Amino acid sequence: MISKQLNKAINEQINKEVYSEYLYLAMSGWFTAQNLDGFANWMMVQAKEEHDHAMKFFNYVLERGGEIELMALAKPDKTFKNPLNAFKMALAHENFITKSINELMDLAIKEKDHAAKSFLQWYVDEQVEEESNADKLVKQLGMIKDNVHALLMLDRELAARVYVPLVITAP
Ligand code: FEO
Repeated sequence: MISKQLNKAINEQINKEVYSEYLYLAMSGWFTAQNLDGFANWMMVQAKEEHDHAMKFFNYVLERGGEIELMALAKPDKTFKNPLNAFKMALAHENFITKSINELMDLAIKEKDHAAKSFLQWYVDEQVEEESNADKLVKQLGMIKDNVHALLMLDRELAARVYVPLVITAP
């Protein structure tokens, strides 16, 4: 059985993961409108992965005998100035998510909930990749600056990203 406090914190995390999905969906739409379909694809894959992150938490709460309480979603921006700015925002958002996951882990440790610690470790590891992916693209876009040819080359590269569904065990 999960504690009331951890249950509440995970319900809040579900909201953050679904908001992540929403944010990347907004970015995907904006990139499509800029005719950068590869960037749009990258963001769409990212949005789907965020949905999986939320569902993994959702199922875990139920598996541990907890209660799901969904909260209202914030509205993401609809325009993002330029590709570099969008990825800077994505990186800042992932840094925020990492902090939030670490706080969940701190709580699980405090409560001596070993099952929750084991479950949360997956997210701790996943955040290393999430930050690294966004950081790499911030750096590449920083190098590209106003070079349209290089931007279109990167767009073609990002078109190749494929969504791989996360295997989530049902409660
Ligand atoms: Fe679910 Fe991008 O962290």
